[in-house]
Amino acid sequence: MFSTIIATGSAVPQREVTNAELAQLVDTSDEWIVTRTGMSRRRIAVTETTSSLAAAAARRALDGAGLSPDAVDLIVAATVTPDNFTPTVSCQVQATLGCARATCFDLWAGCSGFVYGVKVADAMIRSGAVSRAIVVGAETLSRVVDWTDRGTCVLFGDGAGAVLMEASPAPGVMACVTGSDGTRGGFLRIPGLPIRNPWADATSSTSGGASGASAAEPSVISMDGQEVFRFAVGAIQWSIEEASKLAGVPIGRIRRIVPHQANNRIIDAVASRMRLPREVFYTNLQHYGNTSAASIPIALDEMNRQGLLHNGDHLALVGFGGGLTWGGAMVRWTASATRFPG
Ligand code: UT7
Repeated sequence: MFSTIIATGSAVPQREVTNAELAQLVDTSDEWIVTRTGMSRRRIAVTETTSSLAAAAARRALDGAGLSPDAVDLIVAATVTPDNFTPTVSCQVQATLGCARATCFDLWAGCSGFVYGVKVADAMIRSGAVSRAIVVGAETLSRVVDWTDRGTCVLFGDGAGAVLMEASPAPGVMACVTGSDGTRGGFLRIPGLPIRNPWADATSSTSGGASGASAAEPSVISMDGQEVFRFAVGAIQWSIEEASKLAGVPIGRIRRIVPHQANNRIIDAVASRMRLPREVFYTNLQHYGNTSAASIPIALDEMNRQGLLHNGDHLALVGFGGGLTWGGAMVRWTASATRFPG
């Protein structure tokens, strides 16, 4: 048995924030942001939460497939910005949708989380443990952005995207490859809570050793942009090449590559290094910024709804980000995934 994607869904907050609005907050300009990243606007949660966006995206996927909530037996939510430590985003999605039979857990793998989630769901479906899974990438990064840091606050946005996967006799998900390098974790950090109890020294550096949270450290994103940029170019290339080898699909036969939406210049660099036409890479970061684990499934759903995906198309989904983590999934698209109610 294999797994295949049978529906997609996405949801983004109502509030759009333009580059001009950011230029009122920090010393930046529309020209700098567009030239250095390709981003023009992003959605920022005002009334929404990670779990409300995740549930809305998952519901659209479920509705697209025309399935009842009881048909789902696994929900995996990839996020680094859950609303709570517990209950998890996946359990909140379960409660909202009424997927009473589902086993639910969250997965933390930075911006690669969606690809990791597809790999886990694919493995569980192949093993026979489950038959239908929702994998949702959902983030409200705006809650951990330092809105005084122009080097990072212009980059991120909020949103969620989901796929519904089902057991199938032919492989829709053909291959998944992943990798991680914790030794370079310091390049992209969001510190967690410090150890705080009656026996801990409030001034000492705590959880996680050298890269752990200290009592004084705020839980906001910090990034060495140039190191992450260099890492990203190599990670995308590796992920495409390895997924292509494992799936037995030559790179020239990949119809679209859906990369994590971090920066147009990263994608330009990969296209030129791999001598691939730039149009093969789908980008929508101009509208949504970098939505971490949500960026790939939001892009996939947008492509699906725009009729850009056709039966038999080979798609490479490619994630990279904090951890460091990276990964690629080679997917053969099936027409049945392009159904929308109403
Ligand atoms: O999802 C996780 C994965 N994340 C990524 O993949 C991000 C990867 N990195 C990048 O996309 C890029 O490195 C950035 C977009 C973050 C930065 O672009 P860059 O071309 O690497 O710029 P830089 O950091 O080298 O900064 C160049 C200049 C600096 O000024 P000086 O030192 O040359 O005077 C910065 O202070 O640009 C300045 N700068 C800004 N200026 C206006 C940095 N941010 C801004 C800004 N507006 N928002």
